Amino acid sequence: MAILKIARMGHPVLLARAAPVENPASAEIQRLIADMRETMADAGGVGLAAPQVHVPLRLFVYRLPPRPGGGGEEPGEEGVVINPEVEPLGEEKALAWEGCLSIPGLRGLVERPARIRYRGLDGEGRVFEREAEGLEARVVQHETDHLDGILYPMRMRDFRYFGFEAELARFAAELTR
Ligand code: NI
Repeated sequence: MAILKIARMGHPVLLARAAPVENPASAEIQRLIADMRETMADAGGVGLAAPQVHVPLRLFVYRLPPRPGGGGEEPGEEGVVINPEVEPLGEEKALAWEGCLSIPGLRGLVERPARIRYRGLDGEGRVFEREAEGLEARVVQHETDHLDGILYPMRMRDFRYFGFEAELARFAAELTR
């Protein structure tokens, strides 16, 4: 496995529409998935899309933090989504802070549909469909946007809520009051 170089905002690969993965079982795709997982873990991200590692294909990996549960440590959920399709469920929107490994150090407040249904292929190339809300819904939408050349600031409506992580940590409570 290898840690891959992450493209940062300004690199054209992040603005292009990525192509569908033709053969998820191929050695190249399986190696890419393993390398992306390692790269995401190394960078401390919750999601990483192939265009962020200079590969213009429709695939992303994610890793949700453990849910605070009764008693023990529930492990976080990890996944691979190939050729995703996302549809909102209902009209409800959710507002939350997002960051991106391609836009290091910054955070922005982004509104997105609160609940979604998404389908695609998993890491073994099996078709799946599921519904999501909360962080999973947000990560899936953020990562699928990467496959269409969309970065989260392009979804923002109010740039007062865009800033450096360190400053926001000090002033966020004040900002959103
Ligand atoms: Ni991102």
